[in-house]
Amino acid sequence: MRQSASRNLFTGVLAILLLGHALLAAAATREPVRARNGMVASASLHASEVGVQVLKNGGNAVDAAIATAFAMAVTWPTAGNIGGGGFLVYYGADGTSTTFDFREKAPLAATERMYLDADGNIPDNINHDSILAVGVPGTVAGLALAHERFGSLPWRKLVAPSVRLARDGIPISWLLHDSFKGRKSRWDRYPSSAKVFLKKDGSLYEPGDTWKQPDLAKTLRRIQKDGRDGFYKGKTAELIADFMANNGGIITLEDLARYEAIEREPIRGTYRGHEIVSMPPPSSGGVVLVEMLNILEGFDLASMGHNSAQYLHVLTEAMRRGYADRARYLGDPDFNEDMPLARLTSKEHAANLRNSISLTIKSESDPQQFADRYESPETTHFSVVDKDGNMVSLTYTLEWGYGSHIVVEGAGFLLNNEMGDFNAQPGITDERGRIGTAPNLIRPEKRMLSSMTPTIVAKDGVPLFATGSPGGKTIINTTMQTILNVIDHGLNIADAVDAGRMHHQWLPDRTIMEKTGFSPDTKHLYEALGHKVREVGGIGAAMAIYRDPETGILYGGADSRAGDGGSASY
Ligand code: GLY
Repeated sequence: MRQSASRNLFTGVLAILLLGHALLAAAATREPVRARNGMVASASLHASEVGVQVLKNGGNAVDAAIATAFAMAVTWPTAGNIGGGGFLVYYGADGTSTTFDFREKAPLAATERMYLDADGNIPDNINHDSILAVGVPGTVAGLALAHERFGSLPWRKLVAPSVRLARDGIPISWLLHDSFKGRKSRWDRYPSSAKVFLKKDGSLYEPGDTWKQPDLAKTLRRIQKDGRDGFYKGKTAELIADFMANNGGIITLEDLARYEAIEREPIRGTYRGHEIVSMPPPSSGGVVLVEMLNILEGFDLASMGHNSAQYLHVLTEAMRRGYADRARYLGDPDFNEDMPLARLTSKEHAANLRNSISLTIKSESDPQQFADRYESPETTHFSVVDKDGNMVSLTYTLEWGYGSHIVVEGAGFLLNNEMGDFNAQPGITDERGRIGTAPNLIRPEKRMLSSMTPTIVAKDGVPLFATGSPGGKTIINTTMQTILNVIDHGLNIADAVDAGRMHHQWLPDRTIMEKTGFSPDTKHLYEALGHKVREVGGIGAAMAIYRDPETGILYGGADSRAGDGGSASY
């Protein structure tokens, strides 16, 4: 599918003529950024520009992704990180595709019931909101492994821009100002955090101020010089371990030295003649995405009409079933050897599930089974395409916005609170969203289940578009709707990421819908099918790049929901 504006106009006119009102939404409303040689779409335009400079210097998509990821640790501290973890999906122009797992791990001292009091409750949300919520970070190891496998420029050149950004500073945007302000009381909890996010006198950085992070610059310099050892050994590791020991944490030098990122075989699926390549467990993203797409392949979504009530109903029913399987089966593959991944992603399983869907009434979510707990919507995704058409799709996170909000004294970076993504109360599953199923219980050195869904869609062995999003458990549905918007509804990539979105995760049994994304008429028709709706602001912030396989022209879709974001290109 070509992405040019004229083609979209033609498609829109044809749709009106042939199918009337239903496909009107397929006409282009936003022009994608276009380029011939390379592009990075991220939530931080500063970081996208760093990545594009690497491409201009002759680097490939993996080089640019590494530089962008380090830059976002400086410029987008809510989720860009070196103290968290994530996933990278790669699809080369030569047809090679693979993934890198750098999800955080539970420390060696972690135990199944570590957060529970004598009554089996979790006091003060400590699994999410304390120094005990910190998992062993994976980002630096993941980026180093991807570089080892596919990097073409020297590592030091990829880290250098972020050292400069941290040392020389970046201008505070309105978004950063508001975001730091909203967390003022949290920075005050730890002097090491206040030192980074507040001025010396305790006041806030104002829009336009230059924000410098000298301790982070020194940490990045060590990583630049010594690679992964600059984080997991030596001075940085000592700063982390000492900080933990002095503040009641449990991560040790041994935890850090033992951390390894893992290259994993992707989850692969097909959808209407396209290949779907996505992240395997410990992310649930790829499995649930492929399962839902398989279910939907049996419906004529295009003729239902983009975001019509009938379409949203069918999507909801697919989501309900995909997320139920997520809760039932998925966890860290290194601790769950019997996960039925082949079955869950098979067309047969999807056909069985499809047969249980009525087109006229919603089905029930059984709260007695496997509720799905809360996951933070704060994460970040970016996509990269280089001049040869190699693609990277990378999602990483600190879990909450700014993770634990705890900065390591002297090292200048934030620690994640990813331990909150484990099932902390074994056996307790209820309508409140607690889930106690076995695959995701805490074990030392286990990776907690994720929803991150970095994905690349290919056709005939050639990567076509890279996409993904932040958004906690909504990530999988955002990624799916972006894919459907392109394949079924013919939207250009910018419209595909900007279109209104909805989300259902089986339990709680209600749909969240973007308030401005759907007409009241559509909502009423949808509710008449039995669905309960809660309206919300924005869902996710998809960052996607489409490459026209005939012309090689790149089309950027940086979600307008991400205020400081953008596609940089050349
Ligand atoms: N912490 C969000 C996720 O891993 O999906």
